[in-house]
Amino acid sequence: MEKVKTAVVGCGVISNVYIRNLKNLFHIIDLRAVANRSPEAAREKAALYGIDRVMTVDEVAASPDIELVVNLTPTGAHYGVIRQMLEAGKHVYTEKMLTATLEQADEVVALADGRSLYLGVAPDTVLGAGIQTARKLIDTGMIGRVTSAVACINRDQCLNSEHFRFLRGDGGALPYDVGPYYIAALLALLGPVKSVCGFGVPAPVHKAQLLMGTDEMERWQIPGNNLTAGVLQFASGALGSIHFDGNTIGETKHVLTIYGTEGILELGDPNCFDGEVRLTRAEGGSCVVPHTHGYNGKPTLPDATQWEHIYGHRGIGVAEMAWAIRTGRPNRCSKELGYHVMEVLIGMDRAAASGSTYQLHSTFEMKPLRSGYYSTMGGGSMRADAERSLIE
Ligand SMILES: NC(=O)c1ccc[n+]([C@@H]2O[C@H](COP(=O)([O-])OP(=O)(O)OC[C@H]3O[C@@H](n4cnc5c(N)ncnc54)[C@H](O)[C@@H]3O)[C@@H](O)[C@H]2O)c1
Repeated sequence: MEKVKTAVVGCGVISNVYIRNLKNLFHIIDLRAVANRSPEAAREKAALYGIDRVMTVDEVAASPDIELVVNLTPTGAHYGVIRQMLEAGKHVYTEKMLTATLEQADEVVALADGRSLYLGVAPDTVLGAGIQTARKLIDTGMIGRVTSAVACINRDQCLNSEHFRFLRGDGGALPYDVGPYYIAALLALLGPVKSVCGFGVPAPVHKAQLLMGTDEMERWQIPGNNLTAGVLQFASGALGSIHFDGNTIGETKHVLTIYGTEGILELGDPNCFDGEVRLTRAEGGSCVVPHTHGYNGKPTLPDATQWEHIYGHRGIGVAEMAWAIRTGRPNRCSKELGYHVMEVLIGMDRAAASGSTYQLHSTFEMKPLRSGYYSTMGGGSMRADAERSLIE
């Protein structure tokens, strides 16, 4: 199969793991170039990870040599980059969120449809071992009919925004920064949502502490609701409770639990790939179910950097989309899924503002990955097997 010629745009923190994985982990990807608004960052990553070419963003768009662009810029820049690349005839895979507003998302989705181009959206942790194992258990009836779910995540988002400056802008509030992992996991497991309601509380105005090496005393307020409590009504009839609190401490206590008529699944952190899957049934207590799928987030490349240890197998969504491009099937981390994640989150905010429920307009379908392929058996030497699960 001919490799898909790929460029990365946006060479910040998360690009470290993407570039390493895209260059070395997936046979279907040919990572040819990196680009960044400031070329020094692109030059640095190219030198660090052995990428042949550094381009400007305009050169990527104009290059006949690039088929697929991986957009790793901050959310506020997504719309501009996605639009430019689609208009240039490139397939695009973007980090979450798809765009900053639903209106922008409508535009880029229509553009991709109109030009028959693929547009994929992170998070791809939904393709990881934890969520795919849970999906298999649900699909095979191990917990009966799903009745409800609970998803909770907490952080001190203000404190985090002292270090990660992108959190101070659009997309920086906890429900939009980390919420997408939880919503995408629920959607990957339970299907589309029909309506949502919610309540929200903004972040406080934050006065930065004096950081090492700076005498700045800045103030800012992370935009939007930084605490959201909501309810999702799934098309299946199941209900989901959402609790995303960015106005508390950073000691994270996450919850992702799926309840069914015959059992309960307690899942690990959907921000990671290796989530433990604990099954409880009416009799016999509970057990941890071994993963049925690969991409468990454990580093498999030689000389793993700190980034693989933290961010695992980010990039599977790109590789899965590349296989989709070559085989002509829909991709799983699709624009429809990415749009639906956004509409759920924005819908909860709109419901909070209006005091009424919000009916969703969008929907999506997502097939599970084929089970039985693994990432780390044979000491990692059989990593190619896991990629086979991305082909169909
Ligand atoms: N940092 C994380 O832990 C993390 C994890 C998962 C996903 N993400 C997502 O990945 C994306 C990037 O996050 P990050 O932490 O790497 O951000 P970052 O701020 O570290 O890096 C973003 C890079 O994009 C460049 N850039 C900005 N606008 C651009 C434009 N118009 N054209 C070209 N380059 C541009 C910046 O110069 C910067 O180098 C965000 O959407 C974020 O939500 C981040």
